[in-house]
Amino acid sequence: MPTEADVAVWQGQWGAAPAGELLAWAASLGGGPLAVACSFSLEDCVVVDLLVGLGLRPRVFALDTGRLPEETYRCAEQVTARYGLSIAWYFPLASAVEALLGAKGAFSFRESLANRHECCGIRKVEPLRRALQGATAWVTGQRRAQSVTRGGLAAVEWDAANGGLLKLNPLAAWTRADVEAYAAEQQVPVHPLHQVGYPSIGCLPCTRAVEPGEDERAGRWWWEAAEHKECGLHARPVIEAR
Ligand code: ADX
Ligand code: SF4
Repeated sequence: MPTEADVAVWQGQWGAAPAGELLAWAASLGGGPLAVACSFSLEDCVVVDLLVGLGLRPRVFALDTGRLPEETYRCAEQVTARYGLSIAWYFPLASAVEALLGAKGAFSFRESLANRHECCGIRKVEPLRRALQGATAWVTGQRRAQSVTRGGLAAVEWDAANGGLLKLNPLAAWTRADVEAYAAEQQVPVHPLHQVGYPSIGCLPCTRAVEPGEDERAGRWWWEAAEHKECGLHARPVIEAR
């Protein structure tokens, strides 16, 4: 099991490695298959493609918040067919969702930041904890260029919030153009909403298409300030984008 001290050393050794090399090294550490958190955004599909291309069989999991768009399930089916992988789906606790809806209705997240965090906490953050139980390392598709909240993102992180494990963001240094070029070359499945103006994929009521020139994550929780646009899956301080 990696420790926080190991990860501090690995950050220096592997933090700037190309995505494929980073993933191959992480897989060589052992401790079971790498767990990939997959929202079916292009980034996440690229991560799956990279791992399968290395001859690995990742454990791909998805958090079904109960508010996902239909297109996400269609993309999930494509990923399943293309890579011969089954997706491990995690749902929120029914009792917690029932209590939330009973107390605050179906759109409480629009009313305040605290309510929005409450909904993300129930529908995403708690299921993530369960999805990561027993894992020694997990992988995300986050990139530094996505937003102000990700400017300081490292490719190798220690995830204390989920019990202490290695967290990898192999696309940390990639631009959107890098992701699109890789996906086109490797014929990676493309989420249908990417083709109609959604650069970022999330829950249906909290995600909209963006206008040309708008920030990549401008369509996520569009009623909130840019520095609040995180759901709690990836806790870190706000650092200005490079
Ligand atoms: S987030 O604020 O919703 O987490 P974003 O959609 O940019 O932001 O996702 C960042 C990363 O979190 C993704 O690359 C993916 O690894 C993970 N992630 C986000 N949503 C989900 C989901 N519903 N299921 C699994 N992983 C997810
Ligand atoms: Fe709830 Fe919106 Fe967060 Fe989805 S993104 S869990 S609907 S607040």
